[in-house]
Amino acid sequence: MATAISLLTMPQLSTATVFGPIITPRNPYIGQDGLATMHGDPASSDTTPFAGPGNATITSVRRALQSACPTLLATSDGYVFGLCTTMLTRTPTIHLFDSQQVNSLTELAVAKGNILGGVYAYVDNEDRLVLTNGNNELLRIGKSSNNGKWTLVIADTLPLTPIPSSDSVVGLTPDWQGYVWFATASGLAGYVDPVSRNVATLPLTATDGGVQEEVANSISTSPAGTLISTTYATYLLGRNDTSHTINVLWRQAYDRGPARKPGQLSWGTGSTPTFFGPQSGYEYTVIVDNASPLVNLLVYRTNDGSQICKVPLFQSDNSGSENSPIGSGRSVIVASTYGYPYPALPANAPASEPSSAPFVGGLERVDVLEDDSQGCVVKWVNNNIRSSAVPKLSLSDKKIYTFVRQNRLFPDSTSTGILDNYYYTTIDSETGNIDSKQYVGTGFIFDTLQMAGLIDQDLLLQGTITGVVRVSKA
Ligand SMILES: *[C@@H]1O[C@H](CO)[C@@H](O)[C@H](O)[C@H]1NC(C)=O
Ligand SMILES: *[C@@H]1O[C@H](CO)[C@@H](O)[C@H](O)[C@H]1NC(C)=O
Repeated sequence: MATAISLLTMPQLSTATVFGPIITPRNPYIGQDGLATMHGDPASSDTTPFAGPGNATITSVRRALQSACPTLLATSDGYVFGLCTTMLTRTPTIHLFDSQQVNSLTELAVAKGNILGGVYAYVDNEDRLVLTNGNNELLRIGKSSNNGKWTLVIADTLPLTPIPSSDSVVGLTPDWQGYVWFATASGLAGYVDPVSRNVATLPLTATDGGVQEEVANSISTSPAGTLISTTYATYLLGRNDTSHTINVLWRQAYDRGPARKPGQLSWGTGSTPTFFGPQSGYEYTVIVDNASPLVNLLVYRTNDGSQICKVPLFQSDNSGSENSPIGSGRSVIVASTYGYPYPALPANAPASEPSSAPFVGGLERVDVLEDDSQGCVVKWVNNNIRSSAVPKLSLSDKKIYTFVRQNRLFPDSTSTGILDNYYYTTIDSETGNIDSKQYVGTGFIFDTLQMAGLIDQDLLLQGTITGVVRVSKA
């Protein structure tokens, strides 16, 4: 297999790559790093402290659920929550799996809203799944077993009353004091005090003309505040505990381009904004904008929102990303999703320009220089990786994990079809080279749909459009 790498000239980085740290002290209100949120942790680093199955021979099994399972989260005691959406009725359904065999032990349907929402969720420090339902209630769902029979139990229901019924929660994450922050599709930011059950909200509104901003991705927290990217701008928000209101610590507008790009789900960034940094783990924040023809990686200082660098990514035929970037240490890794075909789009998604495009793929790593006033450098770019899942970085084995989608007969083709092959793929984070690629399955049922996998020790679980694939060492 030919892997073309274009290494750009760059100032030499003095030391070998150091990824991490994960933010310490840990957020005491959330489950384990790497397992508790779709993007791993409250910072949305898309890293895992665990080693994945690696590049030796793997074995894979598919669990058919007739549901797309974009959210797979694990508890501290070896169980996995899958937040799935049934293909026929689009009912959000929670599955409880054992993490080793990934058998569905029990399931629970939750109220469906009038907007497709509720994809994001997290596992709290008591191993309960926290999510919102279609009635804009914050639910905490625990598991219990009686004579080997498992049930999912709603342990708490907290109405988020300020949210109108026409709106729905998109992302939610607890902050370091246990307040649960959320952002809605129509651009309402808020937090709820789980003790007093009071809810504070703030509409996020573009200053240029007062247009409604929308939120299409999840949100992140660190001890510095809550990070939300709308279809126009990125915000760092904080609580004012005197007035019980929300302070905008900074707002940075970005270039949203002339239209939604093919391979994006909204007209704006596809990033869940990410905290990263070499000392505290949150001194920087990063998103990818939607500029045309080339999107830019935008790195800001978390403390004041000042821009460290703006780096154009990829080329005109593959410049766009619907994925949350990986952020760790000084490094950011972004996958191109430009042209990725989704079988369905959110109901409010505007037409894309162009209406469709070939799926070229691509993976690019950018590092913030040690003297960050000097900006960032491209460490590597590999335009021959057709990543079809959100890549994850293992801080243990230093590999990047994803799936690759290819035409069965013409592996270099940039076309996509319902009979494509899907491969479990590991990538060397130092070079961007593929170090292993192993066949998992063929066809629509294996479509990994740019969804995030879950890496637990020596195990990778990947949601597909019709269920879950489990990958382990052979
Ligand atoms: C696995 O990765 C390591 C490190 O990149 C490499 O040295 C080794 O050759 C790879 N093994 C296989 C089977 O690809
Ligand atoms: C917090 O709210 C109080 C009361 O409204 C106000 O006096 C104070 O300036 C606010 N603090 C910040 C940092 O905005």
